[in-house]
Amino acid sequence: MKSKKLEELSKIASTCTKCKLSTTRTNVVFGEGNPEAELMFIGEGPGKQEDLTGRPFIGKAGDVLTRLIEVGMQVPRSKVYIANITKCRPTINLQMVKDRPPDTEETKACSPYLVQQIEIIQPKVIVTLGNPSTKFLLNTADGITKIRGQWFEYNSIPVLPTYHPSYILRNNTEAIKKDVWEDFQKVMEKLNWPIKTKIKWKENGE
Ligand code: URA
Repeated sequence: MKSKKLEELSKIASTCTKCKLSTTRTNVVFGEGNPEAELMFIGEGPGKQEDLTGRPFIGKAGDVLTRLIEVGMQVPRSKVYIANITKCRPTINLQMVKDRPPDTEETKACSPYLVQQIEIIQPKVIVTLGNPSTKFLLNTADGITKIRGQWFEYNSIPVLPTYHPSYILRNNTEAIKKDVWEDFQKVMEKLNWPIKTKIKWKENGE
């Protein structure tokens, strides 16, 4: 039932022309994972690899997220659901070279897809990754550094904002990695998932 509804929505999104990002995209990156997921991650928008393949979080930032899920949480990535605020790749001057966060107009045009995804999946917990998804979902102007690691709610669903994986890669400090892993452990606790392991990071921050 949920998967059917997601499929139908994905089909509609696949031909979307509601904003200018539709003019440069290779693929719409709708989102992927378990339609019955207890846990949903929300990023900002597809990057190069995601645009080329149509799959969310499969580039460098995706490696970090996948590692946090599979090595840290010890669950297969396919057990959760992963989506973004914008389903098409936002780039500076629409040149498809350098990524940027989605602008207000793009967020307004695209976010109804995300809202419907959440309505269909009804996850028990949502993790927002970075500023754009946090600000949108929590309707806040507060920055991620201020509010990460704290519980909020979106339509009665607990939401925990944490750093975006790209931010972890860019900074790669022990303090940030410790914060992020603490946030993930809070999520596991909330979901009653067993915490079996300490995360091992790679030298480059992944
Ligand atoms: N960054 C995001 O926010 N989403 C992706 O899918 C990839 C990178």
